[in-house]
Amino acid sequence: MAYVTSKKMLLDAQAGHYAVGAFNAENMEMVKAIIRAAEELHAPVMIQTTGGTLKYGTPETYAAIVKSEAERASVPVCLHLDHGPSYETAVRCIVAGYSSVMMDGSKLPFEDNIKVSKQVADLAAAVGIPCEAELGKVGGKEDDTVSDGKDIYTDPQEAKEFAERTGISSLAVGIGTSHGFYKGTPVLDVNRLSEIRAVVEVPLVLHGASGLTDEQVRECVTRGICKVNFATELRNAYSRAVADYFKKDPDVVDPKKYGEAAMEAVKAQVEARMKVCGCDGKA
Ligand code: CO
Ligand code: CO
Repeated sequence: MAYVTSKKMLLDAQAGHYAVGAFNAENMEMVKAIIRAAEELHAPVMIQTTGGTLKYGTPETYAAIVKSEAERASVPVCLHLDHGPSYETAVRCIVAGYSSVMMDGSKLPFEDNIKVSKQVADLAAAVGIPCEAELGKVGGKEDDTVSDGKDIYTDPQEAKEFAERTGISSLAVGIGTSHGFYKGTPVLDVNRLSEIRAVVEVPLVLHGASGLTDEQVRECVTRGICKVNFATELRNAYSRAVADYFKKDPDVVDPKKYGEAAMEAVKAQVEARMKVCGCDGKA
């Protein structure tokens, strides 16, 4: 019975100065690979699905897969809605059995973001589930309205006000990371992260970590990040492994064959990132 909410694991991470890895899964194989990695390293783990993933499967399907795998796992496993687009999506995921949700109102004006984030945080709190929200913008494909100006970064004082007025459990911040793989080396505003950490009480979340160097991730964790999201690099590991398998054996028929290869690749990537986050040995 290791299916849990994200509340304790993130507060433990905050107190222990490490970060929980949050890994996006698209299918059963990715869920199994992520949990196998967590068990091998004795790490608490968050599995998450975006709105796009929920259109590919359904919240009910992912919740059933993750719950049944988690209940047999030796480590705590949480299922989180990543970049929840609306109150309605949060309701649907909570009813389906998700144990953590995010409301991403970061594209909205400040007051509108507060309003919808508070609505979801209140709903989640009523049923004992933590709620993440986002202030400032993470670049890349999950945010096509991002500008080049400074306004993509999270303002520390606004972050403090936002966290206090919404009652959220954790806050995703914009410090220069981007979704997807980077073109060139990303420049992170780590001083801004420290300024946010100094005035915001809840655990802070880093999105867009695929393609950051281990050093960059470690620096963000040192400065107060308690949850780091990895999506693109897992999709890449999975797909390259399947492609490689077909190169070696173009006549393969059994999906279990290349599924196993893909799981091995995803598991290795998850383990490497867990070690960077410092959550290994914490479960
Ligand atoms: Co062991
Ligand atoms: Co994200």
